Amino acid sequence: MTLFPMMFTDFKRESLIGKAVEKKILEINVFNIRDYTLQRSNSVDDEVYGGGNGMLMMAQPIYDCYRAIMNGRTGIKTYYLSPKGKTFNQEMAIEMSNETEINFLCGHYEGVDERALTLINAEEVSIGDYVLTGGELPCMVIIDAVARFVKGVLSNEESTNEESFRNNLLEYPQYTRPYEYEGLKVPDILLSGDHKKVEEWRLNKSIELTKRNRPDLYKKYLNEDV
Ligand code: ADE
Repeated sequence: MTLFPMMFTDFKRESLIGKAVEKKILEINVFNIRDYTLQRSNSVDDEVYGGGNGMLMMAQPIYDCYRAIMNGRTGIKTYYLSPKGKTFNQEMAIEMSNETEINFLCGHYEGVDERALTLINAEEVSIGDYVLTGGELPCMVIIDAVARFVKGVLSNEESTNEESFRNNLLEYPQYTRPYEYEGLKVPDILLSGDHKKVEEWRLNKSIELTKRNRPDLYKKYLNEDV
């Protein structure tokens, strides 16, 4: 549910998400909240009761849009993208990937009438501690992260087995051909053919990187690994 459905057009068509949609592994249905307004002016927002900056999205078009989607069905989770929500992470992505269907409400302007959130029983979710102009980008971020855990979206080569956040470590550096580029060589250990040594090198690099960039994650790694 969005006021800017065209923001999703390329997202649905391109890259791995596009392929998954084409293969019908994934279905992304975009609903324009404005189609449900009952205002003659076609407007979907109004001023804030009690005063305050900006405009708020009205409850009615959102709730009517939601009811059209649900069509009497129950048991489908609805998330409202908002900086006030619980911060999204990889664990939540895996959990969401087990759902067969999820609703997302993208807000705009100063937010939405609280009654809309109550009526659709929305859980607020944020993608990080910064404020964006709308929920569309966060929605696409979440769909992308969730889709990676849906069977068939990634090929074996792109698997989620060895990647950042697994075991609370960030991913080690990787190299491809040529062996030397602009005077920079691939670490020789990666050409040694010694799998044990390569694994050791990768783990050490992961630890080094995590310690430097994400001391919070490194603490978790230490606590859960000993
Ligand atoms: N809408 C605006 N900012 C947001 C954020 N950080 N996360 C989710 N939705 C948002």
